[in-house]
Amino acid sequence: MSVTIKSAEELEKMREAGKILAQVHQTLGDSLHEGMSTLDIDRLGEEIIRSYGCEPSFLNYMGYPASVCVSVNDEVVHGIPNEKHIIKNGDIVSLDIGVIHKGYHSDAARTHGIGEISPEAKKLIEVTRESFFQGMEYATAGRHLNDVSKAIGNYASSLGYGVVRDLVGHGIGSHLHEEPEVPNFGKLRRGIKLKAGMTLAVEPMINIGTPNVVWMDDEWTVVTEDGSLSAHYENTIIITEGRPEILTLTPDEKKNLLY
Ligand code: MF3
Ligand code: CO
Repeated sequence: MSVTIKSAEELEKMREAGKILAQVHQTLGDSLHEGMSTLDIDRLGEEIIRSYGCEPSFLNYMGYPASVCVSVNDEVVHGIPNEKHIIKNGDIVSLDIGVIHKGYHSDAARTHGIGEISPEAKKLIEVTRESFFQGMEYATAGRHLNDVSKAIGNYASSLGYGVVRDLVGHGIGSHLHEEPEVPNFGKLRRGIKLKAGMTLAVEPMINIGTPNVVWMDDEWTVVTEDGSLSAHYENTIIITEGRPEILTLTPDEKKNLLY
C-alpha cells in the first residue's frame, strides 16, 4: 500500500474521529489520580470510548490486550494495563489511545504528571510536546516529510534529550498504521514529499537519558535502556497547503495553545 490522499468525505470522518478522541483524552486525563491501577485507567478509557459509539483501535490489534496503552515513568510506549500496577504521586503516565469512528482511525498520546512531579519530569513533558509543534512548522504540502522529522529530533536532542529511534509515527486512515513511516529524527534520504490530504500520526517519544530502548518479556512494553523517564506526545493531523490541521487537540489545549 502506498501513501493515500484522503477524499473530502474521508477527511470529514477523520475530523470527527479526532474530535472524539480529543474528548476521550480530556476526560480520561482529568480523571487520573494516585491510587488508580493502570487497569482502572484502561477500563475507564474503554468506557469513555464506547460512550461515543466508537471502538478502541488498539484492543486486540496484533494481540494487544487493552484499549489504552498506559506507560509509566521509564516505560516509553505500549505499557499493558495491570491491576497490580498502582500509580502514585510523582509518576508520569503516558496514555496512548486510538478510536475507530465510521471506519476511520484517530490516534493520540499525552503524558500526564500525577500530583507533584519533579521539575525534570515537567520539563521532559514540555520538551516532548514542543518537539511535536516544532515539527508542525514544516508539516505542509510541498515539503519533505524528513523536514518534519528533523525538526522534531533536532529540537529535543539539542536540549540534551534522547530521541527514540526504534519506534516511529505513521500514516493513518481506514487502517491504524498506513504508509509512510514518520520518524522523529532526520535521515539522510529526504523521503516522500507531503501532499494536501495526507493524514499522519506524528508521535515524538523522548527520554531524559539515552535514546536506546528495550522490549520487556511481555513483548509489548518498551522501556528506556537506562531507566530514565520517557514522555510521548502524539496527534493525528491532516496535511494542507497551509498549516496542518491537528485533529486531536483537547478542549483544554485549544483554550491554551491557540493553535
Ligand atoms: N500509537 C501507537 C502506535 O501507533 C499505538 C499502537 S498500540 C497497539 O503504534 F497496541 F495498538 F499496538
Ligand atoms: Co500512533
